[in-house]
Amino acid sequence: MSRTINMGIIGVGWIGGLRARTCATHPLVKSLHLCEVDRDRLQQMAKETGASSATTDYRELLSRPDIDAIIVTTTPEQTHYPFARDCLLARKHVLLEKPMGLELKEADELMVLARVASLKLTIGYTQRFNPKFAYVKQCLADGTLGRPVTALVSRHLSRSLGNKIGGRVHLSPAVMEATHDIDFVLWCMEPRKPIRVYSQHAYGVMKQAHGLPDSQWIMVTMDDGTAFTIGAGWALPPGYPHFSTATIEFHGTEGALLIDDSHRDIVLNTMGKGMVLPLSTMPGESVGHVYQGPMQAETIHFIEAVALDRPVLVTPEQARQVMEVTHAADLSAERNTPVTLPLE
Ligand SMILES: NC(=O)c1ccc[n+]([C@@H]2O[C@H](COP(=O)([O-])OP(=O)(O)OC[C@H]3O[C@@H](n4cnc5c(N)ncnc54)[C@H](O)[C@@H]3O)[C@@H](O)[C@H]2O)c1
Repeated sequence: MSRTINMGIIGVGWIGGLRARTCATHPLVKSLHLCEVDRDRLQQMAKETGASSATTDYRELLSRPDIDAIIVTTTPEQTHYPFARDCLLARKHVLLEKPMGLELKEADELMVLARVASLKLTIGYTQRFNPKFAYVKQCLADGTLGRPVTALVSRHLSRSLGNKIGGRVHLSPAVMEATHDIDFVLWCMEPRKPIRVYSQHAYGVMKQAHGLPDSQWIMVTMDDGTAFTIGAGWALPPGYPHFSTATIEFHGTEGALLIDDSHRDIVLNTMGKGMVLPLSTMPGESVGHVYQGPMQAETIHFIEAVALDRPVLVTPEQARQVMEVTHAADLSAERNTPVTLPLE
């Protein structure tokens, strides 16, 4: 039976703002409660969304029994695990942005807390809600591609994003960016499991600024001998704020999918700013009455999972598996040798 829910959001910056706007207009959300430490941003978002309450202390959301679910969209990423843990302990369903935690034991603890309390816990692997990515999954599920053999995803972001991420936290492109595409390919490859990871960092402009690589390449071998490669970079010159481009190949025994998710299909040319590629961010801002990307659909999926008691698409077990691969990728790049899974 359907019922309306009360939703909280902790951290209403770029991503939290997108999610708050979606929640504010959804008929299954009875009331919206925002938490943000930046008082100006809190006031702005509370006004824009007509939020029922606004606070700078997330514990106020936890102490309210009427709040059913909380979306955790804070930075820096060290906040993800403790905030999600506290939400689960307060018996709130949780949508948590990636990464799920910084260590595997944190992911394990969140999974146990959710399971024991029968709460929904899901991680923001937003690209699963991109229709192009969903189409790959469908073509594998209905046999169009036959058995999966190999895949490639090469994704690059503008350096405005690389600098934003590198300026707040020392986490690699594997953990912060490739993680979306690793989740996507592992999801498509199920029930196969990853058994070996080899990765290399490639250094350029981000080294001096943040001590981080510009790009990271990751090769994953599965338990049936299939293998895939993910490349992730964040040093493109600006083409648009938070520009993202991805090339995807998926090869099976009966067919292949070659997908352009480069966002180069719309060019805006103005006297003031020259040529840019609008509608090109990964999560996808609103364009008038619609959204350009998958984050709205993902947020609605979470609202409906809680309100209608439906399963979440991204399970914490899957997100934990992705974390293990990203950690193995960083270990491999550091040691310059392949790393065997599971990690000890
Ligand atoms: N799913 C996706 O496609 C996607 C895309 C980009 C970023 N992300 C993830 O989303 C998260 C947010 O990224 P962003 O770009 O919106 O970052 P952001 O820095 O723009 O926003 C984070 C907000 O959290 C607030 N905050 C920090 N500590 C807080 C606290 N104790 N209480 C309340 N608010 C607090 C900050 O003031 C800030 O406004 C990151 O973890 C990032 O990895 C996901």
